[in-house]
Amino acid sequence: MGWLQHLRSGRKTSLKPAFDGPELAIGNALHIDVHSHIVPGVDDGCSRIEESLALIERLVEMGYKGAVATPHIHSDIYPNNRHTLVPAFEQLKTTTAQRWPEFSLQLAAEYFLDEHFTDCIAAGDLLHFHAVDDIGQPVKCVLFEFGFHEPPINHEQVIFDLQMAGYTGVLAHAERYPYWHSKPGEVQALADRGIWITVNAASLAGAYGPEMYRVAQALLENGTAKMICSDAHGMRHMDSLKAISKSPVVHRWIDAGDVLSRSVKA
Ligand SMILES: [Fe+2]
Repeated sequence: MGWLQHLRSGRKTSLKPAFDGPELAIGNALHIDVHSHIVPGVDDGCSRIEESLALIERLVEMGYKGAVATPHIHSDIYPNNRHTLVPAFEQLKTTTAQRWPEFSLQLAAEYFLDEHFTDCIAAGDLLHFHAVDDIGQPVKCVLFEFGFHEPPINHEQVIFDLQMAGYTGVLAHAERYPYWHSKPGEVQALADRGIWITVNAASLAGAYGPEMYRVAQALLENGTAKMICSDAHGMRHMDSLKAISKSPVVHRWIDAGDVLSRSVKA
């Protein structure tokens, strides 16, 4: 941990979110929502295109310039691939462009760290989104998640292989892995290796309880988290984005300039 992070991490965390700041247009600050389940009918997110469009409308109203659709790819539960995802995504993209021509959509995925993920890395075939790094070079970003109940096995090797294959890893909802709540060094180690750390707006809104809130808040306060995402499965996640637009914790994080979603291609 660098001296700046150490200094920032000295701020006390609390167990209850506060929403007593001035309301800001959260999308104007974050630009792109990089984690969402808005491709209809392919996972546990939106089931119909009307639902997807209603969520996109909320993003537009909050000032977002675009979103990355990240359907689950999990070999046991959601065995998605390009063939299952691209047709539904293209239909959503076409309809969105007709209604909100300025709003951009990219298709990526939320990969579960399983054997199928390692196969995709080996094949160099991963659904990814485009961004630029801190020196303005284009990067290909791959969103991935761990299981919620068991710590990942061999994740360091998998992440190394991902990076060697030319991708920047983006860790989904870093605050939602309870087995690491007492080991903040695990997430920090990933950040130190160049993984972009994200937290969910719903956690910051308190929707997953005090412990998730505490950890998400700490990841913002110490500068480890570089993106706040909706992880939208439904309208409730849009309400969380709206709620955190009044969060002083989120305001401080934005003012500190840690907002990497601005570097994502619109
Ligand atoms: Fe997700």
